[in-house]
Amino acid sequence: MSATRLLLLGPPGAGKGTQAQLLVERLGVPQISTGDMLRAAVAAGSEVGKLAQGSMDRGELVPDEVVIGVARERLGQPDAKDGFILDGFPRTRAQAEALDELLAQLGTPLERCVSLVVDDDEVVGRLIKRAEIEGRADDNEETIRNRMRVYREQTEPLAAYYGERSLLRDVEAKGSIEDVAGRVRGALA
Ligand code: AP5
Ligand code: MG
Repeated sequence: MSATRLLLLGPPGAGKGTQAQLLVERLGVPQISTGDMLRAAVAAGSEVGKLAQGSMDRGELVPDEVVIGVARERLGQPDAKDGFILDGFPRTRAQAEALDELLAQLGTPLERCVSLVVDDDEVVGRLIKRAEIEGRADDNEETIRNRMRVYREQTEPLAAYYGERSLLRDVEAKGSIEDVAGRVRGALA
């Protein structure tokens, strides 16, 4: 039996999106990436996109109320009722508390938080490589450093939040994508 209501925690470039997509195939539950949703909102020029763009370009967090609204709407959709893979949400204590409240209302509490553990040099290397391939707006060295600082200050403390609730599993996220996926599977058993 595998848990299906999951959160992937980890710094920029840790492999949250990569591992989330593999879990979508394996578990048949949707990936919910606030980063992907916000990038789509920016591309569409929507109200949410206008509120998010400045922070995203600087590598800072989009205000909690904006992101919580986006996540609430997505988690309320029917395909999320049997499970979900949260990728990049929550990122602050306020977001984590809002998520707990929302999932309690929906009757689908979080089952596992997988923390992808990887060193700074490895993630900077991965993102600089991705910049050459995909050209994501926030994949330049200055913004990458800022995203990492923001992660350390605002998001990493969530590991303790989920540790206290006995939901946290650390997974070594260096090595091949397949090896990491195997360790993630082990953490969901
Ligand atoms: P978001 O889109 O979430 O970006 P991020 O957290 O910076 O993380 P990335 O998407 O860059 O990395 P990832 O961990 O998904 O790794 P990936 O699998 O791509 O957020 C972007 C911005 O949106 C934020 O800065 C913020 O402004 C805003 N935002 C989003 N959510 C928010 C929230 N909740 N609150 C407030 N603001 C929010 O892998 C990276 C690269 O490495 C890829 O090229 C991949 O192919 C490669 N790779 C993956 N695994 C391996 C491996 N094992 N070995 C070698 N290469 C690998
Ligand atoms: Mg991602």
